[in-house]
Amino acid sequence: MTGAAGFIGSTFARLVAGEHSVVVLDKLTYAGRRENLEGVDVDLHEGAIEDRSAVRGAMDGCDAVVNFAAESHVDRSIADQDVFARTHVIGTTVLLDAARELGVPRYLQVSTDEVYGSIESGSFTEESALDPSSPYSATKAAGDLLVSAHAHTYGLEAVICRGSNNYGPRQYPEKLIPLCVLNALHGDRLPVYGDGHQIRNWLYVEDFARAIATVLERGESGRAYNVGGPDECENLHVIGRVLELTGRDASLIEHVTDRPGHDRRYSLSSDRVRELGWEPQTRFAEGLERTVDWYRDNEWWWEPIRSGEYRAYYERQYGRVLADGDARR
Ligand code: NAD
Ligand code: DAU
Repeated sequence: MTGAAGFIGSTFARLVAGEHSVVVLDKLTYAGRRENLEGVDVDLHEGAIEDRSAVRGAMDGCDAVVNFAAESHVDRSIADQDVFARTHVIGTTVLLDAARELGVPRYLQVSTDEVYGSIESGSFTEESALDPSSPYSATKAAGDLLVSAHAHTYGLEAVICRGSNNYGPRQYPEKLIPLCVLNALHGDRLPVYGDGHQIRNWLYVEDFARAIATVLERGESGRAYNVGGPDECENLHVIGRVLELTGRDASLIEHVTDRPGHDRRYSLSSDRVRELGWEPQTRFAEGLERTVDWYRDNEWWWEPIRSGEYRAYYERQYGRVLADGDARR
């Protein structure tokens, strides 16, 4: 597994580590946290997927590769896209070459609904054209195309899993839900981009991890599988629920300058992965409650983040400082 010290990768590692022997290759960027793998039985190699020798060292002898490694935040890709291209394009190429040369029997690329771009109504299927809008999604789409090209040209056994917006424990607080939960717990303002009527399709992270396991085991080589969550909702609705669950009110909402090129709505048809037997198990209302509880109870996890790199990022992105002080319990 690559990128398993991150949010989704560490959830997947928790799911499979008891049953399988897991080797992790992770660059440990700001989003890669050793503590995410605490108590999970994995062999962690620190290194980048664009580093050929690190990749070969970690991959040799593996039965499958699952690539989670990514720069995952759209706003950071708008500010500086170099590292996105390096990780998603060069890194994916290096992984695919190594998998082919070492004879790894199975490769899974973790990807995103954002590669299809925005859709006003209806849902994208796996046959929809890729039409990404941000440097993040454009470089993720390039990674997907490289995977398909390797399967087609070299016969590599490879599948792609495209998830919708994940949420749950251990998500870095640059993303909408953990950012708003932590700001609300601190009594700080919640920054809403533009009018806040953008729509996202929310997928509880454990449901995505199970879908990835299903596709890894039973997906047809050369195919992509969409994995959408059971509920879609507007950002302002998400924020309203966070305010209720943290005992705050709408006076904390602050409309700020919109994200450039902001996608209005994402939506996936997940029929293909359902045919493999996968179903989401967690509805948004229940998953969000669990997520808020987790952040409330795990200050040890987020406190070092809020007092580290994230503070400087927050100031650059939002033009003001993070609130200090105690969080509401
Ligand atoms: P994350 O930012 O929490 O974690 C990314 C991990 O990748 C970190 O551990 C980081 O250290 C590691 N990493 C980054 N660059 C690397 C490199 N060059 N070499 C090795 N490791 C590197 O991300 P996440 O939210 O867990 O996303 C995981 C994957 O799922 C990504 O591919 C992302 O595009 C995809 N995805 C995310 C979502 C979502 O809502 N978060 C939804 C669908 C798909
Ligand atoms: O759809 C899957 C994608 O979901 C993943 O591929 C990405 O890795 C992941 O970051 C996520 O992308 P989004 O851009 O949809 O997620 P984010 O949490 O950044 O934003 C969700 C929505 O909330 C989006 O419409 C932008 C808005 N937003 C976000 C932030 C951080 C705000 O209004 N204010 C904010 O401060």
